Amino acid sequence: MRVLVAAALEPFLRETEVPPDLFVELLPEEAPVPTGDYAGILPLLTRRIGPAELARLPALRVIANYAVGFDNVDVGAARARGVAVSNTPDVLTEATAELTWALILATARRLGEGERLVRRGAWTGWAPTQLLGMGLAGKVLGLVGAGRIGQEVGRRAPAFGMRVVYWSRAPRSAWERDVGARYLERDRVFAEADVVSIHLALAPETVGLVGAGALALMRPSAILVNTTRGGVVDEDALVAALAAGRIRGAGLDVYAHEPQIPARLRELENVVLLPHLGSATEEARRGMWRLAWQDLLRGVRGEPLLNPVSAS
Ligand code: DGY
Repeated sequence: MRVLVAAALEPFLRETEVPPDLFVELLPEEAPVPTGDYAGILPLLTRRIGPAELARLPALRVIANYAVGFDNVDVGAARARGVAVSNTPDVLTEATAELTWALILATARRLGEGERLVRRGAWTGWAPTQLLGMGLAGKVLGLVGAGRIGQEVGRRAPAFGMRVVYWSRAPRSAWERDVGARYLERDRVFAEADVVSIHLALAPETVGLVGAGALALMRPSAILVNTTRGGVVDEDALVAALAAGRIRGAGLDVYAHEPQIPARLRELENVVLLPHLGSATEEARRGMWRLAWQDLLRGVRGEPLLNPVSAS
């Protein structure tokens, strides 16, 4: 059986025992999906697998996506062809929650601006009013979306003295009690929080959800953090809000058209920009490999997947 594995995952593949009946071909990111009798594919989140790619893979049984998000895969089209799809939940939850807090802190305390000041040799010494930021203690963290990662971010809020409000499609009663979180209508989360953190998967109904309307609800002193998918935020609306000082700042790990970041965003001082590092820990990336590889093997053999996903 032939399978395709993203070439960037070769370091993990080298440490993996490959069954003798499996022939792995590495697929470089710049190459299109080839035509062939491949039974499985293990792509990165940066590779689109839609009807055109599926048409080139008539023997495909499984797409084992190397990510928890699966907006790069047309799950409906895959299902129509009898192709199963899996993702890599749980193993990156803590890493992404930690990165979210790194962004919250970096944005609230203006770490990017401070670092740029030091690196360009412009720091002239301690000053009482230099780069004053927002303290977190006593403030409100607003979670828009409270799935695995949103909940994990919320769990860390009491350590910073923050109260949690949240909106989520499904109620999260047990977690709500543990964390002391309060459920609010989505608009009220934007309106009441000092830090708004987005944790919704990218889907047709969430594209551009954080647009001019939602941003206008936010307090001028509040910050927005996004570690999910860039497409959930309307980048033009965000640039306008940041440039006009309608919100204090933003911390972004993800962008609508990665790796492109709008020049106007890069020019702003009150935004912290990271290169999609949410799951970038040794532990998480190895865990993602383990899960994706297991489901690749299961899928090509027609066994039930450990982490199947369905179209949202
Ligand atoms: C995912 O798995 O969806 C993350 O965005 C990877 O960092």
